[in-house]
Amino acid sequence: MLQAAPDTDKRPDDNSDILLSVNNIEVVYNEYVLVLRGLSLDVERGSITALLGANGAGKSTTLKAISGLLKSEDGEITRGSITFDGRTISHQDPERTVREGIFQVMEGRRIIQDMTVLENLKLGAFTRSDKGIKDDIDLVYSYFPRLRERKGLAGYLSGGEQQMLAIGRAMMARPKLILMDEPSMGLSPLLVKEVFGIIKKLNEDFGVTILLVEQNAAMALNCAKHGYIMENGKIVLDGTAEELRENEDIKEFYLGGGGERKSFKNIKSFKRRKRWL
Ligand SMILES: Nc1ncnc2c1ncn2[C@@H]1O[C@H](COP(=O)(O)OP(=O)(O)OP(=O)(O)O)[C@@H](O)[C@H]1O
Ligand SMILES: [Mg+2]
Repeated sequence: MLQAAPDTDKRPDDNSDILLSVNNIEVVYNEYVLVLRGLSLDVERGSITALLGANGAGKSTTLKAISGLLKSEDGEITRGSITFDGRTISHQDPERTVREGIFQVMEGRRIIQDMTVLENLKLGAFTRSDKGIKDDIDLVYSYFPRLRERKGLAGYLSGGEQQMLAIGRAMMARPKLILMDEPSMGLSPLLVKEVFGIIKKLNEDFGVTILLVEQNAAMALNCAKHGYIMENGKIVLDGTAEELRENEDIKEFYLGGGGERKSFKNIKSFKRRKRWL
């Protein structure tokens, strides 16, 4: 059964199984547009956690709040806190956050178009000074063999190849946590399947924790362990992936059910207790 968050005073950072904890954050753009309104979620170490929701719910904003990239869009966390591996990172410089092990794969892929595949991959390793970079490039090519063949500029890659390169670039940073923003966007069904297969394999092979933002709920819930549903800047429902897949309302709203889309807000049983106020 789906359950409300436990009513406890225990902070999640007391628990080493939780790698990332977002506690009741509020995010404002341009000093007045309130987009996240008390959002809380936990990401278990070594897991894939899905964050689902409709257009404009605030999914990308949540990822940018975690990675620190909000600042470059004149966004700010005005309330709440984010802890990663037991440390508060809420207002930290994004470069430091990358060094500490969080790498964001942006929506729309955002690779550097006028650099080659290899240059893009090397860029992913910009925080590293160890000697393993060359081996890791080979490792990325073993996951994405077709990237090895592409010698030209990244801008000429197909959409699917660009997504693979974006994921490969994240691997090059050897992060503890990858924030993935809609990896399925714009890909054919076959490629979506391939990309999700690789995401799952990365998680299994390296134990890298993944927070996966998706509109493709069915795919995301197939590879995630736990999922959160957000609406209007808040989490309205969470549960194990299995619970969410079986949930009638989720089926109706996100997994291809017919009819008019209702709002979770109006379903009382989905009101989630505010935590750690
Ligand atoms: N830089 C910004 N300045 C002002 N408002 C913004 C900015 N970025 C996003 N917003 C607003 O914040 C809300 C949430 O946007 P966000 O991009 O986080 O949603 P999303 O869930 O990722 O949506 P999508 O599924 O379409 O990618 C939207 O109403 C959007 O217009
Ligand atoms: Mg988005």
